[in-house]
Amino acid sequence: MKKLIFATGNQDKMREIREILGDLDMEILSMKEAGIQADIVEDGASFEENAEIKARAVCRACNELVLADDSGLEIDALNKEPGIYSARYMGEDTSYRIKNANLIKRLEGVPDEKRTARFVCAISAAFPDGTVKTVRATMEGIIGYEERGENGFGYDPIFYLPQFCCYSAELPREKKNEISHRGKALRAMRDLLL
Ligand code: IMP
Repeated sequence: MKKLIFATGNQDKMREIREILGDLDMEILSMKEAGIQADIVEDGASFEENAEIKARAVCRACNELVLADDSGLEIDALNKEPGIYSARYMGEDTSYRIKNANLIKRLEGVPDEKRTARFVCAISAAFPDGTVKTVRATMEGIIGYEERGENGFGYDPIFYLPQFCCYSAELPREKKNEISHRGKALRAMRDLLL
């Protein structure tokens, strides 16, 4: 069976990836499971560039088909911040309670119609022959006025989904996978690989 390496160490992501890419008839391994170590500097200027940098670097290290993703939150009223710096915003070790409270504060006085935001996910596939293919998907919403919900992670508690009348952190896991930026990008990548 052919191998597909996903450039992540995150077990939650691996579970979602295995669920969605299960019908590819490939052995799906994390970098750790494949015994690959690569020091990668994510210095791209966009989600797509960062996903490509990661996928290419790991592909060079193992010479197998490699998938890598990059994701984050863009808030329109903040000039698309935190964007590609979503994980590093206010420091990697700062809690999301503090990061989320800070973003709500920065949006004080901004009316509903200008609080638009989106989660973005880019996924790149790097092939051993040097080819790279990239897909991008989004989940649109608005930044709320408070934190709500216990599910999800990161910025989910402040991300309100008008079409579902709830915050992203209030969605059950299966529902979020169905509508999320990552779920959509993974399904687009599966279709591309099939
Ligand atoms: P990564 O590129 O998938 O590691 O994501 C980078 C950062 O974007 C995460 O650390 C979170 O801050 C944020 N992020 C990405 N996807 C989500 C999501 O689905 N919910 C909440 N935060 C997210």
